[in-house]
Amino acid sequence: MPWIRACSVEELDDGDALQLETTPPIAVFNVEGEFFALNDTCTHGQSSLADGYVDGDQVECAWHFAKFDIRTGAVLTPPASIPLCTYKVRVEGPDVMVEMPDGD
Ligand code: FES
Repeated sequence: MPWIRACSVEELDDGDALQLETTPPIAVFNVEGEFFALNDTCTHGQSSLADGYVDGDQVECAWHFAKFDIRTGAVLTPPASIPLCTYKVRVEGPDVMVEMPDGD
């Protein structure tokens, strides 16, 4: 599967997130220097989780406040009930790379 450059390591501070305009949109998070990638769209609605509230390794949806585990995509708090897809991330030199799903 193809890897894409998400950002530079220095672009994304601890506790920050950014949205990749991919299909599907992917949110990349920095949790204490580790990078994680998840589907950006909340599984309860259409809210961007990159625009949510990050607290440690959890992100809270800005719309109805469902919480997800950034490390695993698991739902921690309703009203969402479906976990988020996760993507592999690796750091290559100065860049954060995300493995995209096959585009079929
Ligand atoms: S859209 Fe995220 S909790 Fe409703």
